[in-house]
Amino acid sequence: MPETDFVLVQDLRKAFNGHMAVDGVSFNIEKGEIFGLLGPNGAGKTTTIRMMATTLPITGGDVIIGGHSVHRNPAEVRHLIGVCPQELALYLELSALDNLVFFGRMEGLSKAEALEAAMRNLELVGLADRAKHRVAKFSGGMKRRVNLAIALMNKPELLFLDEPTVGVDPQSRNHIFDTIEGLRDQGTTILYTTHYMEEADRLCRRIAVMDAGRVIALDTPRNLKSRLGDPDKVTLEDIFLDLTGRRLRDAG
Ligand SMILES: Nc1ncnc2c1ncn2[C@@H]1O[C@H](COP(=O)(O)OP(=O)(O)O)[C@@H](O)[C@H]1O
Ligand SMILES: [Mg+2]
Repeated sequence: MPETDFVLVQDLRKAFNGHMAVDGVSFNIEKGEIFGLLGPNGAGKTTTIRMMATTLPITGGDVIIGGHSVHRNPAEVRHLIGVCPQELALYLELSALDNLVFFGRMEGLSKAEALEAAMRNLELVGLADRAKHRVAKFSGGMKRRVNLAIALMNKPELLFLDEPTVGVDPQSRNHIFDTIEGLRDQGTTILYTTHYMEEADRLCRRIAVMDAGRVIALDTPRNLKSRLGDPDKVTLEDIFLDLTGRRLRDAG
């Protein structure tokens, strides 16, 4: 494998009650790139991430992360990854700081290490001044940023971000983008899922467009757009329509 490929997804499949939610998905992610999974609700993005993150058993195929297979070496894979799930996973009655320290301790950090990592990550997502506030009082966007900070507690080499901006106010959205771009600049490899075209366009070096459990196109945003004409005018919305005959908002 080329040295730059950090993640190999090989003919990945997941069946739920006989229905193929993920139906033979393959792609590689290079070290240090932001790779986008773009597709409408129900396309199979979350199911793909959950298999890659070892939290859902795979029906077929394999995922290799940093040389480790998710089904043969899940513990090694977990060591390399951080996951910011689509659904918030937070203790609302705890402060932001205590949430991070709790999850850091779960990752095996000492109390001092967890505290240090927690403060560093709250700083990174722009919530250091709210460290001692209860998460229950936070806006949706602030809760998302706490969840992102939690995903960073084990200093992951590969970060999964599953629709991190859904239901998020513009200020938090900008903080999230800044954090992601900062992590990328420090060498973190990122898998980003979204159904927002403009986000994939702005953040991702390459995009896999998913529909009904399959990858229907994979390229840079610019190359995908060039297929349809002037890349400065074509939107990724046009691309989805061209590939599937459906509008994004009607899909799923
Ligand atoms: N735990 C589950 N049990 C049964 N079906 C599921 C489950 N999780 C997801 N699905 C189905 O798999 C398909 C893909 O879902 P998902 O991966 O959540 O898509 P996306 O994240 O792209 O919106 C959908 O048809 C969804 O209903
Ligand atoms: Mg999803």
